[in-house]
Amino acid sequence: MDSRIKEIRENEKKSHIEIYSKEDLYRTESWLKKPIKTVEDIVPFLCDLKEVQVLDLGCGVGRNSIYVAKEFQDKECKVECIDILDMAIEKLNENAKLYGLDKNINGIVNSIEDFKIINNKYDFILAVSALEHIESERKFLEKLEEIKDGVRKNGIVCLVINSEIKEWNRETLEELEPQFEINLQTDILQSCIEDVFEGWDALKSCVVKQEYDIPRGGIVSHLSTNVITYVGKKR
Ligand SMILES: C[S@@+](CC[C@H](N)C(=O)[O-])C[C@H]1O[C@@H](n2cnc3c(N)ncnc32)[C@H](O)[C@@H]1O
Repeated sequence: MDSRIKEIRENEKKSHIEIYSKEDLYRTESWLKKPIKTVEDIVPFLCDLKEVQVLDLGCGVGRNSIYVAKEFQDKECKVECIDILDMAIEKLNENAKLYGLDKNINGIVNSIEDFKIINNKYDFILAVSALEHIESERKFLEKLEEIKDGVRKNGIVCLVINSEIKEWNRETLEELEPQFEINLQTDILQSCIEDVFEGWDALKSCVVKQEYDIPRGGIVSHLSTNVITYVGKKR
C-alpha cells in the first residue's frame, strides 16, 4: 500500500474514532441521527421475503444495518456488517445488543477490498459513503462486479458514493488533499455504475451536491462533494 493511502487511512481512522466515541447512534444531532432515507425507502421492496440476507459494506456503527435488521426482525434476517475499524464493529455490536438484534447482526472487522462477496447470497447489498475508501480504482471496479454477482434475482443494491470531492481548512480556507482513497469525476463514476448494472431496473439514480464540515485531527475541514446514489433491482 503506498504512503498516500496509508496517510489517508490514518487520518480517516482518527476522524471516525472521534465521531464514534462521542456520538450515540440515533441519539445525536450528527449524521448518526437516523438511517438514510434511501435505505428506508428500499425496505418495502423486500418485505415479501421470508428470509432476508443483507450485506452492509463500510457499516460504521450500524446507522443503516441496525435499522434494516429491526425492520425485518420478524423474519429470518441476517445482516453481515463489514468495517475496517475495530471500534466501529465494537460499537455496532453494542448497538445490536441495545436494540435486541445481536442474533441478526454479524459484525466483521475487515476491509471491503479483502472481504470476498459470495455469489448469489444476498437480497440486499448496501454501501453508504464507503466504496470511495477502496484503495485503488481497479479494486473499486472489481468490487462493483462482486456486488453485482453477490445479489440474488430480485435483490437490491444501494450505493451512495462521493465524487469530485474538494476539501479546505474551514478557518484558513487553505485547500487540503481530499482524504478519500479514490476521488472519481462524477460523470465517469456514473458511467461505471451504468455499465456494471446494465440490464438492472434502476429504482433511483441521482447526483446531489453537498457541503459539510468534518473533523480532521485538530482542524475542521469543509468538504464539497457530488454524492451519487444508485439503487438497482436485479432482474
Ligand atoms: C462515512 S462512514 C459511513 C458508515 C456507514 N455506512 C453509515 O452510513 O453510517 C465510512 C465507514 O467506512 C469504514 N471504512 C473506510 N474504509 C474502509 C475499507 N477500506 N473497508 C471497510 N470499511 C472501511 C470507516 O471505518 C467508516 O466506518
